[in-house]
Formats: sequence, structure tokens, C-alpha cells
Amino acid sequence: MSTRKLIKNKISNKLITFEQFMRLVLYDPNYGYYNCKQNIFGHNGDYITAPEISPLFSKIIACQCREILQVTHGNILEFGAGSGKMAAIIMQELTNFNLAPNKYQIIELSPQLKQLQRKNILSICPDLINKFEWLPRLPDNPWNGVILANEVLDAMPIHRFHKSEMLQEYYVTMNNNEFSWNLGDISNDNFIPYIQKIIDEFLVDVKNYDIEINFYLEGWLKSIFDLLDQGSIIIVDYGFPSNEFYHPDRSTGTLMCHYQHTTNSDPLINVGQQDITAHVNFSQLAELSYQLGFTIAGYTNQATFLLNAGILDLVNTTNNIQQYSDNQQIKLLTLPSEMGEIFKVMNLSKNMAITPSGFSQLDLRHTL
Ligand SMILES: C[S@@+](CC[C@H](N)C(=O)[O-])C[C@H]1O[C@@H](n2cnc3c(N)ncnc32)[C@H](O)[C@@H]1O
Repeated sequence: MSTRKLIKNKISNKLITFEQFMRLVLYDPNYGYYNCKQNIFGHNGDYITAPEISPLFSKIIACQCREILQVTHGNILEFGAGSGKMAAIIMQELTNFNLAPNKYQIIELSPQLKQLQRKNILSICPDLINKFEWLPRLPDNPWNGVILANEVLDAMPIHRFHKSEMLQEYYVTMNNNEFSWNLGDISNDNFIPYIQKIIDEFLVDVKNYDIEINFYLEGWLKSIFDLLDQGSIIIVDYGFPSNEFYHPDRSTGTLMCHYQHTTNSDPLINVGQQDITAHVNFSQLAELSYQLGFTIAGYTNQATFLLNAGILDLVNTTNNIQQYSDNQQIKLLTLPSEMGEIFKVMNLSKNMAITPSGFSQLDLRHTL
């Protein structure tokens, strides 16, 4: 039975919130996109992430881990490690600097991706495989070290609301054997004050507007804050601060689907075959982090972060072909029209005073 059919049967004639739909379609253990789709990343897949574009990206993250681990010692914990290539390169780099942590821990929801990660790590650095550990949940606290999340927050299921004369929530149901949208009451009364605050701040005079909120973020950050004794989180993702996120012109939100290197904004098509993402609201992330007690140690765009941390110094200058290829990869990672500006990097820390070198110039925290 196809993924689409299985999901149809599961929904049947029920209404489910968009958040439930996104969770089901992406993460259902039996037929979710991340558990079933063959070839997600890279040229034969649906999309390409920074670690797939260039090993130089992973080397820069390794350099930031090195600076943090020199203070905290401890381990690295990566959420959603994708193909596992970034993890392997980070451990290779840290081993070269004699600073490899005892453990590189990975929390990955998808059993299929865990296998892919193990396979890639085994092919890139077989001698280090025993340092890698796949955890079903967060480790026991207290825990020291670096936590990494590259393009993970955009993959978290979001709630979607609609503001017109009234405030409603988006649901998904089946209509004539097709997935379709439905507007209904807000599924949880606790959401209302939060949505109202966004309307009062950004959308008072706006007539029709889709409001997306990631309510998962608070619990995720709190669990990390409780875990950490001393350490730092590096979050890389596409998104912007609230005033851009809830800009009146962005009236249909930021939902984006990736299918065979094309993008569309309709999560109800290609069900189970396409990735569904929403941009990250970095102001929400900062506010929740601040309330929990994290220090927002750095926030800038990806281009600045990579250049500050010395990506140009990593370009091969002894081999012409490699030099050309390195520069092409850096272009994709840093040009404003590519990943350079829309992607942001945030550093949250607990009980530590250093800010990694990636945040040394063009501090954008005032924009949050
Ligand atoms: C867009 S992919 C990014 C993969 C990889 N970090 C990269 O940059 O290539 C999103 C990843 O996040 C994982 N993911 C989503 N939510 C997660 C969560 N709450 N905990 C752990 N992994 C999660 C997915 O399974 C997937 O591996």
C-alpha cells in the first residue's frame, strides 16, 4: 500500500490539526517521509543541506566545537544528523587536533537515517565508529559539551492558524478522496493568548493572514537547558526575526515543501514523498531561551558566521581544481542569493563565558 493511501486510511473522515498531519506525514514510524523515503539528501534526493554541499561547512562547525570543548570538555550531541557526513568530519577534525570528545552522541527520530549515518561514518572514519552513540532520548544530566542542530528546527511540526474576522486553526481532512484544508476552532485554549500577542504586535490591521507557530520549541529548549551543566548549542537554520516572520506581506506563512529539488507551498500534495518545512522564528527562539536562563551568545547570518570562523582559510591553494571546487561550494554557502542570508546561526550557552569565533563580527542580536 502506498504511503499516501496509508495516511488517507489513518485520517479516514477525521479532522486532524495541521500539526498532527505534519507529524504523521514526516515521522510516522511505519510510513513517514523520514522513515520510508529512499534518497532524501543530495543530488538524487529531494534537497541538499550545507553538510552535503561542502565538507568545509562541517570543518567550520568542528572548529567552533573545538573552541567550546576547550572550555567545557565533555561530549558532542547532534540532533537530526541527516546523512551523518557532518558528524564524521567533525570527529575527524577534532581527532586531528587531539581534542576528540569521548562520545559523539546522535538523537535521530528516523531508523532509516540512523542506518545511513552509521554507513557513512563507517566509510569516512571507520577507526572512530566506537565513539558514536545513537541515543533514544537525551542522556542523563549533568552533561557538558556542544549540542548541534543543523536544519532540524525547520523540520519540527508547526501549528497553523488563520486570522480573518475571527481566529481559527487549520485542520486537514479527506474530501472526495483528496486531502483538503478545513478551518475550525483553536484546538487548545492555551494557544489563544500566544496568538493574540502576535496579532497585537504585528497584525492588528491585517485582514487575512496565516499564522504559523512552533509550540514544540519550548519543550525542546527546556529539556536541553535541564540537561546542560556547562555548554553551548549551535543552531543553524533558515528563518528570521518576528517582524519579518509575521510581516503583513507574508500572509500565507512560510510553509515550504521539497520534492526532487523543486519547492512548492502545498503540503497536501506528494504526501509522504516530499519534505515539509517551516522557517524558524529566531525571535521566538531567543525569547524562550532567555526566559529559561540561556545566554544568547551569538546570532548572525550563515555567510558572516562562516567567514568569521575562517572558511576562506580552508580553501585548497595547492591544487587548482580543488581550489575552484572549494570556491564554488563557498559561493553556495555564503552568497546572499543562496544560503548566505536566509540561513542564520544562533549560539545559546549555559554557564560559560566564551563566544565562538563565528560570531566575532556582524552581531545581529539587536534584530531579534
Ligand atoms: C532537514 S533534515 C537535516 C539533516 C542534517 N542535520 C543536515 O543538515 O543534513 C532534518 C533532520 O532532523 C531530524 N529531526 C527532526 N526533528 C527532530 C527531533 N525532534 N529530534 C531529533 N531529530 C529530529 C530528522 O529526522 C532529520 O534527520
